[in-house]
Amino acid sequence: MDIDAVKSSYARWAPVYDRTFGALTRAGRHATVRYINSQPVESVLEVGVGTGLALPYYRNDLKVTGIDFSEDMLKKARRRVDEDALDHVADLRQMDARSLDFPDDHFDVVTAMHIVSVVPEPERVVSEMARVCKPGGKIVITNHFASDKGILAVVEKLSAPFSELLGWHSDFCISTVLANPTLTVVERRSLPPMGVMTFLVLEKSAHVVS
Ligand SMILES: C[S@@+](CC[C@H](N)C(=O)[O-])C[C@H]1O[C@@H](n2cnc3c(N)ncnc32)[C@H](O)[C@@H]1O
Repeated sequence: MDIDAVKSSYARWAPVYDRTFGALTRAGRHATVRYINSQPVESVLEVGVGTGLALPYYRNDLKVTGIDFSEDMLKKARRRVDEDALDHVADLRQMDARSLDFPDDHFDVVTAMHIVSVVPEPERVVSEMARVCKPGGKIVITNHFASDKGILAVVEKLSAPFSELLGWHSDFCISTVLANPTLTVVERRSLPPMGVMTFLVLEKSAHVVS
């Protein structure tokens, strides 16, 4: 998707997101935040925070920063932070994940839930996530990746031409996020419902100088 399609697509999604795609993908957010909460970490960057559905579930001693390209989605996230008094949310900023406005080696954990198949230039986004993560820190990604067989693979191929309308690529390949040489897979498993989503933890090499 190009960045204009992201903007227009998520302007359409924002009013209904929480009750539709957001509700169907709850398991991925819960697995991701449960993992982060179990780690001895302080600072978290959530890339593509959307309407902020995950924000209420972080440990309240964490310092969470969220970024998203869509002002329409961010408006919902900001309202959630105000209404639920989420004091652990340090900042929510409009930003393109392809050029994160943060220093190198800055966050203990960087996470992206249901966004790597949405962003333009996903390799560049993963590389930016790695850059702003501290050496030895974790990148936690939850996403649907292309199946190589079965009925799901057929559905993904059939819906692939409609990515700009849907707001994501249904046939997005996991190799795109595994290609970064500074990152090593430490956990990879399928999530309910029906294993459609994958939960992935990558560790940034402790010896990388960004
Ligand atoms: C499917 S939603 C996921 C939202 C949230 N992570 C969740 O799990 O509910 C994808 C999000 O990625 C954001 N996004 C897409 N491209 C982006 C980019 N280049 N930079 C930042 N955010 C982007 C969209 O605006 C949208 O909010």
